[in-house]
Amino acid sequence: MSRLLIEHTEGLYGRVSIQGAKNSALPILTATLLCDDVCVIDNCPNLSDVDVTLDILSNLGAKVFKEKNSVTIDSSGAKNHRIAKNMMAKMRASILFLSAVTSKIGRAELCFPGGCRLGPRPIDWHIKALSKMGLNVRCNCNGKLFCKVEKNFNGAEINLPLPSVGATENIILAAVLAKGKTIINNAAKEPEICDLCDFLSKCGAKITGAGQNQIEIVGVDKLCGAKHRVISDRIVATTFLAATAMLSGDVKIENIVFDDMKVIIDILRRIGCTVNAKCDTVQIISNKKLKAPGEIITEPYPGFPTDAQALFMAISTISQGVSIFVENIFKNRYKHVDELLNLGANIKAFDKIAVVTGVRELHGNCLYAKDLRGAAALAIAAMAAKGSSILTGAEYLDRGYENFEINFKKLGAKIRRV
Ligand code: UD1
Repeated sequence: MSRLLIEHTEGLYGRVSIQGAKNSALPILTATLLCDDVCVIDNCPNLSDVDVTLDILSNLGAKVFKEKNSVTIDSSGAKNHRIAKNMMAKMRASILFLSAVTSKIGRAELCFPGGCRLGPRPIDWHIKALSKMGLNVRCNCNGKLFCKVEKNFNGAEINLPLPSVGATENIILAAVLAKGKTIINNAAKEPEICDLCDFLSKCGAKITGAGQNQIEIVGVDKLCGAKHRVISDRIVATTFLAATAMLSGDVKIENIVFDDMKVIIDILRRIGCTVNAKCDTVQIISNKKLKAPGEIITEPYPGFPTDAQALFMAISTISQGVSIFVENIFKNRYKHVDELLNLGANIKAFDKIAVVTGVRELHGNCLYAKDLRGAAALAIAAMAAKGSSILTGAEYLDRGYENFEINFKKLGAKIRRV
């Protein structure tokens, strides 16, 4: 377990540049397995989840070369169809290898994915869709998954019950090399889905409708290599915005895709922050006198992102008034609540609702992170709290944030790993 010592921080000032998006990089790196030539992926964040993905690709037989934020992958010689349990268990996105490996090699043997425990995270929609496309997917009682191409591996019309990000990506990865047309109805519209489709299109895939309700994919015989730059991480950007709002200060956040963050910026303005946008830079100025955000309801994109829920709950703990959170995406995504209570917050949470009444100040304490975004929320709440805090479980941050404490330190935060 890795720990952070966090002391009360009076304001953040300066500039920070936002890293490439984890949730884009992982599916794009997985997609390189489908290409017959070399791919170069730039702006790839240095994260433990990225390292796991690259380890999986190497173990499958791809040649992987990483230098700073650029990764070169040649999957032409990948022949292995098995992924070990310890790798699958490290993150949720490992499930995307189910279709990628099967499509490339004709069969796959892997295990159920791990990742942050945000309540039950089934993969039934992935399996149902791939089965409809002619793949035979079986699982055994030891948590192993077997998938192989039966006679025909065809496109199909898939109706997702909800716009699942992972299921949409798995279907896309299967459909690009399947025979004929695939239609995904109720597809996820996240910018990271568009980024994956942009990359695959550069490789020769035929995809229309990314970012819309219905995505149409016409399978091609092969994909070539391509060079691609991963989009910037809107949740990391949200983390710096939320921290500046909560601690006060004046920070310029560079390398942001403003249009992807409208819902977040609207709320920050509503609670009393000044937010100026120019090209790919957003400046946030906060004097800490914040109004409660009111109602925050998590929804699929373009709604309020579930990944930002914990961050805004941290803000609400010291905002004036009452905020109501409704977590619609994951069943158990309030694990940060008990820890915020330990800092002196006033929160009542039941099922998918949490009611937060702002208090005058928080006080430092020993905190335990239990998931990635919860860890980030606790870190900024601890910076706002009077006194010092120890945050245990800081390794969760390394899954999604490049140099978390170094970047915050540069802005003036009193934070270090112990
Ligand atoms: C992705 C993101 C995660 C984000 C989430 C929602 C990655 C690596 N992770 O996770 O950061 O919080 O989208 O924006 O990109 N579901 C089923 N059956 C399925 C698939 C999903 O019931 O087969 C349910 C899930 O349990 C969850 C909901 O659908 O309640 C949404 O999940 P999904 O969009 O699939 O999230 P992930 O792809 O796991």
